[in-house]
Parts: sequence; C-alpha cells; structure tokens
Amino acid sequence: MTEDFFKRDPLFLAPLAGFSDPPLRGVVKKFGCDATVSEMISANALVFEGEKTLKMLEKNAAETPFFVQIAGGDAEIIKKAVLLINKFEGIDGIDLNCGCPVPKVVKQ
Ligand SMILES: Cc1cc2nc3c(=O)[nH]c(=O)nc-3n(C[C@H](O)[C@H](O)[C@H](O)COP(=O)(O)O)c2cc1C
Repeated sequence: MTEDFFKRDPLFLAPLAGFSDPPLRGVVKKFGCDATVSEMISANALVFEGEKTLKMLEKNAAETPFFVQIAGGDAEIIKKAVLLINKFEGIDGIDLNCGCPVPKVVKQ
C-alpha cells in the first residue's frame, strides 16, 4: 500500500459479520473494490489461536490492501491480538470495531 493510497478516495468493502468472507471479498475485488476488510474477529478468540479463528485471517491473493477487523473489551487482550496479527504477511491494517450495536458485541 503506497503512502498516497487514501488520497485517491479508495472504495472499501465494509466489514460485514457473517458475510465478508474470502469468497464475497474475491467477487467484490473483481468489481473494482480497492480495499477489503475481514469479518469482525473477536480479540479473545484470536489470542486462543484456534484453527477456525486463524482461518479468518486468510485472504485472496488479489486482496491488497487487506484489513482485519477486531473487537474486544480488554486492552491487554486487544494488544495481544494486534501483536499476533502483525506476524501475518499480507495484512495491511487493523480496524478496531468500537461501535457495533449488536447485543453480543456490546456485552463485551
Ligand atoms: C449484516 C451486517 C453485518 C455487519 N457487520 C459489521 C461488522 O462486523 N463490523 C462493522 O464495523 N460493521 C458492520 N456492519 C456495518 C457495515 O459495515 C456498514 O458500516 C453499515 O452497513 C453502513 O454502511 P452503508 O453506509 O454503506 O449503508 C454490518 C452491517 C450489516 C448490515
């Protein structure tokens, strides 16, 4: 991702829990989307490094730049999740979900 990426008013696919998985993101890339974001991933689940959760960090080869969205309620856990994500190649940024109104997220 070059420094002037955001100056070009890039088109993002919004994070959509339950929808913005790799197949959907692959399709929207073909229709001209510039940047894609993963489904929301729980920071708590990430730090457990379960197979299913780590799979949510996978992307299609065409997805550059690619952002991962995380959510959590504990700063230490979020920090651990960020450090873990930083170990993965091909993830250009992290989106911290601070406003999802869904009850199961608000509870955290
Ligand atoms: C089914 C669904 C799931 C969503 N999941 C997330 C999510 O996981 N994280 C998030 O930040 N926003 C989520 N959103 C909000 C969307 O990313 C987006 O901000 C919202 O739909 C408004 O987009 P619009 O202004 O293009 O209509 C979700 C929205 C919908 C409809």
